[in-house]
Amino acid sequence: MTRRKLIAGNWKMNGDLASLAELGGIAIAAQNAPGIDVAIAVPATLIAPAIAAAPGLSIGAQDVHWSAKGAHTGCISVAMIAEAKAEFSIIGHSERRADNGETDAQVKSKAEALHAGGLDAILCVGETLDERDAGQAVAVVTGQLAASVPEGAAADWLSIAYEPVWAIGTGRTPTVSDVAAMHEAIRTKLRELIGAEADAMRLLYGGSVTGDNATELLGASDVDGALVGGASLTAAKFVPIVEAGA
Ligand code: G3P
Repeated sequence: MTRRKLIAGNWKMNGDLASLAELGGIAIAAQNAPGIDVAIAVPATLIAPAIAAAPGLSIGAQDVHWSAKGAHTGCISVAMIAEAKAEFSIIGHSERRADNGETDAQVKSKAEALHAGGLDAILCVGETLDERDAGQAVAVVTGQLAASVPEGAAADWLSIAYEPVWAIGTGRTPTVSDVAAMHEAIRTKLRELIGAEADAMRLLYGGSVTGDNATELLGASDVDGALVGGASLTAAKFVPIVEAGA
């Protein structure tokens, strides 16, 4: 099955109004690559100004709360990011799991809340180095999927990002065959969970993706895109990744 590639950036807790100037070059690269989707998840405060700076580029959030509203100091709801015109949110990023103790059950509720609000979700999974060294990588990742992918999830609103924790921001990446093997395991698990829809769902790889390794990583079987951290912060670094995906 042909799946449209998605190259998504995750600015994490980086960026300010001045850095939105980078979005101009990224938006042009996206226009020049009509066969793929390009998106950037910015800090919540930058969602509206990012959309104003680069209309036409898909802008999203990096997290949402699962509740519609209420006593959740510091959190942001799906309706809030939707009002700011975000199109999607990342959920379950390993940095949020580590910093905020987020559980798979919470990630599932966030996915459901996004879908109910008409937004897309990029759901992150991935093992730590200890888990990989212990031979537990596939069990950990498929366990995360089983506990966090909502019943009946569909490819038109949910993508999965495989981000091995040890590859994030370290400059280390798994081998292409390790990535392909994990993505195959993810797709097999998704078939169990959501049936044939699994074959339409995009599986992104994330963790130290750069312009230098993007072509190789994006060429691995079952890799339908990338979720990019550090190299998404400037057009100079991100555009080559978009071009590699096009
Ligand atoms: O969500 C993207 C991410 O965690 C990967 O970060 O900086 O290794 O590309 P980075």
